[in-house]
Amino acid sequence: MYCLGIESTAHTFGIGILNKKGKVLAHAKSAYTTKAGGIIPGDAADHHGEVCSSIIGEALTKAGLCMQRIDLIAYARSPGIGHTLRIGAMVAKTLAALYKKPIIGVNHCIAHLEIGRLLTKAKDPVLLYASGANTQIIAYEAGVYRIFGETLDQGVGNFLDSLARHMGLGFPGGPHIYTLSQKSKRLIELPYTVKGMDVGFGGLLTHCKKLYDSQIYTQEDLCYSVQETVFAMLLEVSERAMAHTGKKELLFGGGVCCNRRLQNMAHTMCHERKATCFIPANEYMVDNGAMIAWLGLLMYQNGKQKSPSIDAVDIDPYERTDDVAVYWR
Ligand code: ATP
Ligand code: FE2
Repeated sequence: MYCLGIESTAHTFGIGILNKKGKVLAHAKSAYTTKAGGIIPGDAADHHGEVCSSIIGEALTKAGLCMQRIDLIAYARSPGIGHTLRIGAMVAKTLAALYKKPIIGVNHCIAHLEIGRLLTKAKDPVLLYASGANTQIIAYEAGVYRIFGETLDQGVGNFLDSLARHMGLGFPGGPHIYTLSQKSKRLIELPYTVKGMDVGFGGLLTHCKKLYDSQIYTQEDLCYSVQETVFAMLLEVSERAMAHTGKKELLFGGGVCCNRRLQNMAHTMCHERKATCFIPANEYMVDNGAMIAWLGLLMYQNGKQKSPSIDAVDIDPYERTDDVAVYWR
């Protein structure tokens, strides 16, 4: 059994093809970018519409399969930008109707967690999901993937990107901030916003922009201090979720988790509490079609989810991680 998964929640249009055991046969993607500013939803949707055919072709060629050999179409139905989600759902619907295949819609955040469990040895982890739009601490409890903590305003990646843009660095900002941070060891005291189990970046962004404009500190010192501060915030709530649930595994997902400093800090934290930190390859931590295909397979093979009629294929930009009943584990 082969599943073709379609990711289109934000800037990435991705296709992944997996067999039922979870072997990734191929994945391919194209990301919408802008020279200045953030995502313009209509333009991102246009990008996805333009590239979908060639990305599907690329993935099928890499996998050595044709559409007729695919048994299941999975697509990201939630959460994300309505404009781009609609393109993914439309592509999925079209393929399902043309080739008479069952179709299944999946939650993007849960897909990050499940691809991590598949590709690492993590069994029952706490997930630190830190990407552009999302920042959540998620773990399985009582039949759902419960959100133990999350950002109260923007995702940590959007925070890094906004600050980098203000400092005249390119997009995406995270890797630029990392490179500059390597050239400093001077820790500037910055606002540290952990409220209960949640984190916030809005006030810190305003503060950092002001510091940058005042030219008191070098860009390198600012980048170093920003990373030390926000990564400590993320790991404080992750560690507290591990302590609360008694779980001994931390799993990484989302683009910001590609950051080497964050990875080193997490390894230290886990080592100190005799836990293990699992980090999938970068290509599976950023948005990708393979994770959508894998969650589609898990849901479909475990039976309770029936393929909807084509008319009932929908999207849900605001679905939360803990709205989904996890019946496959
Ligand atoms: P989602 O839809 O899940 O919110 P996304 O569309 O934001 O995800 P991702 O590819 O998961 O996409 O994450 C992109 C973010 O990751 C960007 O904000 C980028 O700056 C950040 N990022 C990428 N590499 C690094 C790095 N090495 N250090 C810090 N941040 C990074
Ligand atoms: Fe994502």
